Order: sequence, then C-alpha cells, then structure tokens
Amino acid sequence: MNKKLRKAVIAGNWKMNKTRPEAKALIGELAPLVKDADCGVVICVPYTNLETALEATKGTNIGVGAENCHWAESGAFTGEISARMLAEMGVQYVVIGHSERRQYFGETDVTVQKRVRAALDAGLTVILCVGELLEQREAGITEEIVGMQTKVALGGVTKEELAKIILAYEPVWAIGTGKTATAAQANEVNHYIRTVVAGLYDQAAADAMTIQYGGSMNAKNAEELLDQEDVDGGLIGGASLKAPDFAAIVKAASR
Ligand code: PGA
Repeated sequence: MNKKLRKAVIAGNWKMNKTRPEAKALIGELAPLVKDADCGVVICVPYTNLETALEATKGTNIGVGAENCHWAESGAFTGEISARMLAEMGVQYVVIGHSERRQYFGETDVTVQKRVRAALDAGLTVILCVGELLEQREAGITEEIVGMQTKVALGGVTKEELAKIILAYEPVWAIGTGKTATAAQANEVNHYIRTVVAGLYDQAAADAMTIQYGGSMNAKNAEELLDQEDVDGGLIGGASLKAPDFAAIVKAASR
C-alpha cells in the first residue's frame, strides 16, 4: 500500500451466501469491529441482501455494493438488474468482471466494458476484476491477459471517471483455493496493471488508482500482501463471511 498516493480499500465479496437474517447478524457483528478503520470498508452482497445491508450499515463506515449489474437501463432482460436500480436503492459499489461471472456465466471483456459504462453512468463505483487462469500463468502470458482485460474494460472510461474505479487483480487459480499468490507475485502483477493504466492515461492517474489483490486473502496472510507497494487493499471472498477474519484484514490495511 502507498496511502500517500491512493486509498486502501478492503471489500468483501459474499458471492451467493447469506440469507437476510444471516446478513443482518454478520453486519451487526462486523460493524463495531471495523468502526475505527483507516481504509475503505465495503461489503458486496447478493441482490436479495442489499436492502438489509443498506439498513444495517446506516451510520457506520461500511459501504455496500452489488456483485454485478446489467448494461441496459431497463428492458427485456429477464433475471437481470440494472445499475440504475442499484443506485436508486442507495447502493454505492458494484463488482464487475469477477472471474466466476467470466467462467460460469459467459462474461467477456466486451460485456465487462458495457457493464462498467452503465455502472459509471449510474454513479456507482466499480470494483473491476481482472486475472489470469493457471494455464495462462504457466504459459507465461499473465501480463498479456490482465493487460488486455484492463484495456478493454476501461475502453471509453475518461480520466476523471477513474476516480470511480477500483481495480482488483484476482488470479483465478488463487480464488477459493486456499492457494494465495505470493506477496511478490501479487505486487508484480498489480504493478504491471498500474503501468497499463499509466499507458492509457498518465502516471498521475496510475499512481492514484486503488489496485486490490484478491484470491484467498485471509487474516493470516493479509499483512504481508498489503505491505507490498502496489497492493492497495483486497477483495475478500471466503474470509469476508466471518466477521473476526474480515475485521483482521481491515486492521492489517489500517496500519
Ligand atoms: P476468496 O475469493 O477470497 O474466497 O479466494 C476472492 C474473490 O473471489 O473475490
């Protein structure tokens, strides 16, 4: 982290977990544990939990996000939710391009770009995920893959709008596997992504960009990962479902 240049943000990605009463209980336990955080704290929850989360986080320092949004404002897209619908509820953040969407739901770099556009137009802050598959890392094309994902996703995004974008580098092989990237690997790719942003915009924009790491970050390894210059926070899956674990990561980012 380099808090002089940019904001550190720890975001939970609950994925398809928690009923409404469970969500309320988890937030109730979490809020007092993170109230003195010296970093951004966000929870991204299933659509069905958004109202509960907005209510339960009132008066706290916890921001609320959704896990996806559609690119159209409204229309015949059965089962989808628009960015405008989220913004109207008071939702502030949205995860876009998560590898599980890419893997299981046909998300492509082009649909990611369209969703990013819609989210920005609705006033949401985007947590934009990029990351390589294991075979891509083994083939030595990690930089090509994350570079392309970043460039396509940011297509049409202005320099001013970058203030509403958080990037999250999530190597797919590290997600939910317990196999974390080493701190050096995380820093290396995060740094590379920053050079891509500098190439697209300029160095000042790249220096100001929050770039998280995600993939089996937990209470034990968070400090080492967050100690890296280019790791500005985390996108946390499994460990965000337990208040003490998530709070420990927030604490590591608050040093
Ligand atoms: P994980 O998930 O922390 O469970 O690996 C991270 C993510 O998918 O954002």
